Amino acid sequence: MDAPLHGDQDQPQEPGKQVSRKAVLRAAIAAGVAAPIALVGVPALARTKAEDAANGELLELTPDCSDGDAPTIEQTEGPYFKAGSPQRTSLVEPGTVGTPLTVTGYVFGRQCQPLANVLLDFWQADNGGNYDNTTYRFRGHQYTDANGKYTLTTIVPGLYPGRTRHIHMKVQNPGGRILTTQTYFPGEPRNNTDTIYDPRLLMNVRTVGNGKEASFDFVLNVNGTPPTSSTTRPPSSSTTPPTSTTNNPPGGTTWAAGTNYAAGTRVTYSGVNYTCLQGHTAQPGWEPPNVPALWRVG
Ligand SMILES: [Fe+2]
Repeated sequence: MDAPLHGDQDQPQEPGKQVSRKAVLRAAIAAGVAAPIALVGVPALARTKAEDAANGELLELTPDCSDGDAPTIEQTEGPYFKAGSPQRTSLVEPGTVGTPLTVTGYVFGRQCQPLANVLLDFWQADNGGNYDNTTYRFRGHQYTDANGKYTLTTIVPGLYPGRTRHIHMKVQNPGGRILTTQTYFPGEPRNNTDTIYDPRLLMNVRTVGNGKEASFDFVLNVNGTPPTSSTTRPPSSSTTPPTSTTNNPPGGTTWAAGTNYAAGTRVTYSGVNYTCLQGHTAQPGWEPPNVPALWRVG
């Protein structure tokens, strides 16, 4: 069957989980995302492998992670999932209106092993914020390649009442459980008011020409053997610390849910110092180690 069946879900990420190397990498990527929005003047930081390849730079053979990452968190399927989507990597059809968007990424297991032949079923709203429940416009499924990579060619989904901008997907390892979740766009005004939104699902998005390029890696609750060849690029050592535009004292105050944090604000959490990357109101579960899109260590 082409589309995944609705099934069991992966376990949500445990708040307060110790930061893994993958999380650190994600923090670097997220900082690169946040830079144009909240940290003007900060150079681009981490890039995706696809971007590295496009730039003729080092292309790693294995993922930048290991040591048991937490699975990508689950989110509601919502009312618009429709089984039986066509197999295709591009949702763009003749006459499609909207900002071109390419999303690339990898699907990993818990030991950061890339997972091949993982089914990814995407669905989203069109440029006007409408879902097509009659045919299969803006719906499609595909499989990761031998390196665990996927590429989705689409448009930036439009907004509809009550939600911030997002893309839906189901991700299923062959014979495995289905992860149903959504991914989000940084810097969206509604991110702070959408109760479903979760910054752990922010994509890395950048503007290229008249379109957007995004990246997001999924981690499924699949055990396996870590890749044998080590990564060649330290996750965070090559990044440049963003320059804070505020005058908060070093260390700052202790992180607390309910607090409205501005970009550049410094806090401590579990004895570790963090700097806020994007303005937001803190919520339980968004502790700095859990949301590298919002906080970087230091
Ligand atoms: Fe939706």
